[in-house]
Amino acid sequence: MKPGHVAIIGFGAIAQDLIGILKEADVGPPERITVLVHSGREAGTKARLSDASISVSSDLEELLDEAPDVVVECAGHGAVAAFGALVLDHGTDLIIASAGALSDPDLKAKLISSANRTGAQCVVPAGAIGGIDALGAARISGLKSVIYIGRKPPSAWLGTPAEQAVDLGKLTRPTAFFEGTAREAAREYPKNANVAATLALAGLGMDDTKVRLIADPTIQENVHEFSVVSNASDFSIRLVCKTSPLNPKTSRSTVYSIARAVLNRHAAIAI
Ligand SMILES: NC(=O)c1ccc[n+]([C@@H]2O[C@H](COP(=O)([O-])OP(=O)(O)OC[C@H]3O[C@@H](n4cnc5c(N)ncnc54)[C@H](O)[C@@H]3O)[C@@H](O)[C@H]2O)c1
Repeated sequence: MKPGHVAIIGFGAIAQDLIGILKEADVGPPERITVLVHSGREAGTKARLSDASISVSSDLEELLDEAPDVVVECAGHGAVAAFGALVLDHGTDLIIASAGALSDPDLKAKLISSANRTGAQCVVPAGAIGGIDALGAARISGLKSVIYIGRKPPSAWLGTPAEQAVDLGKLTRPTAFFEGTAREAAREYPKNANVAATLALAGLGMDDTKVRLIADPTIQENVHEFSVVSNASDFSIRLVCKTSPLNPKTSRSTVYSIARAVLNRHAAIAI
C-alpha cells in the first residue's frame, strides 16, 4: 500500500532526496507530502519545489492537526529536541535521521515518556550504516563487544576538534585522532555522532560501544566499519558510502534507509 500523509521536517539534502524517492516508489507516491521549514522560508521553499501538490508549513502544531501518518525528521539534532516530544505527544509516529540526538539522556527519556503515553513510536532507521538488524538480534543473545571505526576524508573533519589533534591539510596517510566511547564521541563530535549513536542504541549503549575516528586522505567516500562479538554470532560489517551530492557530510545511503522505514510502514510484507 502506498504511504498516506508524510510530513518531513527540514528541506536539506536528505529531505529533498527523500521526496524524490517517495514520489517514484513502486507502490505509488504518498497521498500527500508536507514539508516543515523555518518560519519565513515557506515561499522560498515552495518556489524550489517542482511539485505544486507538496504543502509547505512552518507550524508543527497546525500540521499535526491535519493528522499526518508519520513525521520524518531530516533537520538535525536541534529539531529532534524542539519537535520530537510534540509529535509523539500528539500520537503520531516519528522517524528520526538525527539519531545522535538520543545520546542526550534527558531528551531520550522525554521521547520515551511521550511515546509510552500515547502509543506512538519513535523509529530510528539504520541511517548511513547497515547491519542494525544483526546487531539488534545479537543484543538479545548477549553482546560482548561492539567496536565502530569511522573513516572520512580529512575535509569531512574540518570544523571539528580533529583540527586540534592533527593537521588535516597535511595528512598523507590514514590517521586516527579519536578513541573513546560512543558517549565521548557524541560529546566531542556531535555532527558525526549519528552512526555511533545508532550502533549504541541498537547494541551495547553509549558507554560500552567503542569508537575510533580516522581522517583518511586516501579515500573520497565515508567508510563505516563495525565488529561485534556476541553469544549468537561474531561479525564485521564495512560500508563504503557515497556522499550526498547536496551535502558531502551526509552519506547517501542514509536517505534510502529512511525511505525504507517510510515504505515498510505500509508494506504487506515488511522486510
Ligand atoms: N543517521 C545517519 O546515519 C545520518 C546521516 C547523515 C545525516 N543525518 C542527520 O540528518 C540531518 C539532516 O541531514 P541533511 O544532510 O539533510 O542536512 P542539511 O543541512 O542538508 O539539511 C538540514 C535542513 O534542515 C533545516 N532545519 C534545521 N533545523 C530545522 C528546524 N528546527 N525546523 C525546520 N527545518 C530545520 C535546515 O535549514 C536545512 O535545510 C543531519 O543534521 C544529521 O543529524 C543522519
